[in-house]
Parts: sequence; structure tokens; C-alpha cells
Amino acid sequence: MKIVITCKLPHEVIEPLQAKYDVVMWEKEGEPMERARLLHEIEEAHGLFTNVADQIDAELLEKATNLKVISTMAVGFDNIDVETAKQKGIVIGHTPGVLTEATADLTFALLMATGRRIVEGMDVLRQDEWKSWAPFFLTGQEIYGKTIGIIGMGRIGLGVARRAKGFSMNILYHNRSHNKEAEETLGATYCKLDDLLTQADYVVLLAPSTKDTYKMMGKEQFAKMKNSAIFINTSRGTNVDEEALYHALEAGDIYAAGLDVFDPEPISSSHPLLRLRNVTALPHIGSAAIETRLEMARLACENLVNGLEDKPLVHEVKA
Ligand code: GLV
Ligand code: GLV
Repeated sequence: MKIVITCKLPHEVIEPLQAKYDVVMWEKEGEPMERARLLHEIEEAHGLFTNVADQIDAELLEKATNLKVISTMAVGFDNIDVETAKQKGIVIGHTPGVLTEATADLTFALLMATGRRIVEGMDVLRQDEWKSWAPFFLTGQEIYGKTIGIIGMGRIGLGVARRAKGFSMNILYHNRSHNKEAEETLGATYCKLDDLLTQADYVVLLAPSTKDTYKMMGKEQFAKMKNSAIFINTSRGTNVDEEALYHALEAGDIYAAGLDVFDPEPISSSHPLLRLRNVTALPHIGSAAIETRLEMARLACENLVNGLEDKPLVHEVKA
């Protein structure tokens, strides 16, 4: 059977696959497989190893006449046309769980960096703008004891809430359903979205990308936030109306934003949001800790092999 891997993976990860299957892997580090190549390779493939950088859409799935399994090295699968894949009897695997803590760490790091203007401080040094200690030089927002509002209380949201608890933050959350663990072990309070937006000092978006969450943070939502509030997004860029965010940041309707995700990705240095002093931006690295990425790769391989061998996947996308 043939496997297509759309990204460069370490030898130790692919060797077991090479021993059993005909493996085609894209060799360019840091770049996804070219679309034309993927459309060609998929025609014969039984297994596809993918990630968030590929569009696994109906056009591609039409050509994939042998495909049994799609395994994405990610928790999110909004880049995959799940419905079409299911109709064709293709199973889909993803990697929840193993990236929860790393992504919660990055989310909290971005929250702290944005609130306390860490990256701006480094820029000041690099540009020789440090003249003296001064009373209000690079003042940001406090974190300890403030109110955090977490939109999307899944595994990662819960991880962020645990970190927030360590900073004695008051924890509000909004989610499709109540999260007992967050309420009972962390004292988190369930809120309507509007109440969360008006009360939180830090609004942290961790909802998956679906039809219902598309641009859920827009002009109206940013207007409800405090002028001193900070918006953090480590979920998906599609969940935010970026133009509305730009205007809210420029007008001072909100204080700052920390963003790990954009729509579309990647962005270039000319992106309007990067021109704003009060934006701290990262190139979609939520789960990018070395141990985590190796675990994700291993889990994605296990899903792939199980799918090829008609065994249940470790984590199957059920939609
Ligand atoms: C990355 O964004 C993921 O979904 O794992
Ligand atoms: C992702 O793992 C989530 O449920 O937050």
C-alpha cells in the first residue's frame, strides 16, 4: 500500500512505515507539499499523512480513489472536508490530548507577553531606544488576580484555566456545554458570551473552527470588551474578523492582542495587524514543543497504520 506524507518528518518516525509500505514524503523542510504534486500522488494513495497546512477538499478527495485513511498531525481538522471523506468511506484520525499542555503553555506565554509588552521591550533594546528607567516606560497590564474569560472550555481551555488559577485569576468561561471539572476544581464560572466579554481583562479564544464559530469575534464583540482588555487567539484565524480586530486595536477599543493564528496562513510582514504596536504575533506555534511534536507525529502514524489495517484509530474524527 502507498502512503503520502505531505511534510518532512524525522527518520525515526517514518522508518517503521517504510518497512511496511511504499512511502512518498515531501522533503522540503518548513514547506507543505505542492498542491499539484499532492493531487498527483493522492491518486494511488491508500493512506495520507497531513497537517493544518494542506487543504484536503472535495477536489482532492475526488481523485483519491484508493484512500482508506487521512491522518492529520493536529487536533484541529477544519482543513479537511470531513463530510465528503466520510461519504467516501475514508476514516480520519487526529491528535488530541498530546498537545494540550504545550498549547496551554504557549497560550499563557502569549497572554503574559502581550499583557506585559515583552516583545516590545526586546524591540526597544534592539533599536537602542532604552534611555533610562522611567516611571511609566513600557507599562502594561497586570495579570495576577485579574479576570480571564476563556471561550471554548475543551482540553486546552481547561489547561489554560489551571495556569490562570496559579495566578489567582478569576476564571470565566463560555462553552457549548458546562464543564464540571473547570467549575468544581478551578472555580470557573460559566457565562454568556456577552457577559464574559464585558467582564474579562483577558479574553482567550480556544474554540474550534466550525460554521458556528466563523468570525464569532467581530466588531460587536470587540466593542463589548473593556478598553483595557487583551484579546488572545490560539485557536483558528477564521474565528475572528481580522478587520474588526484591527480597527478595535487601532481605535483603542481594546488594549492589545496576542495572536498565534491568522486567516489565511501564512501572513507576510506587510499584514496590517503587524503594523500595530499593540499586537504580539506568532507563526502558529501553539503545540511547537519538541517532545509534543514528536508525540503528535507518533500518534498520527499510529492512526494512519490502524486505518490502513482496518483497526480502530486511536483518535478518530467523528463528525
Ligand atoms: C494546530 O493548530 C492543531 O490543530 O493541532
Ligand atoms: C483540544 O484538544 C481541546 O479540546 O481544547
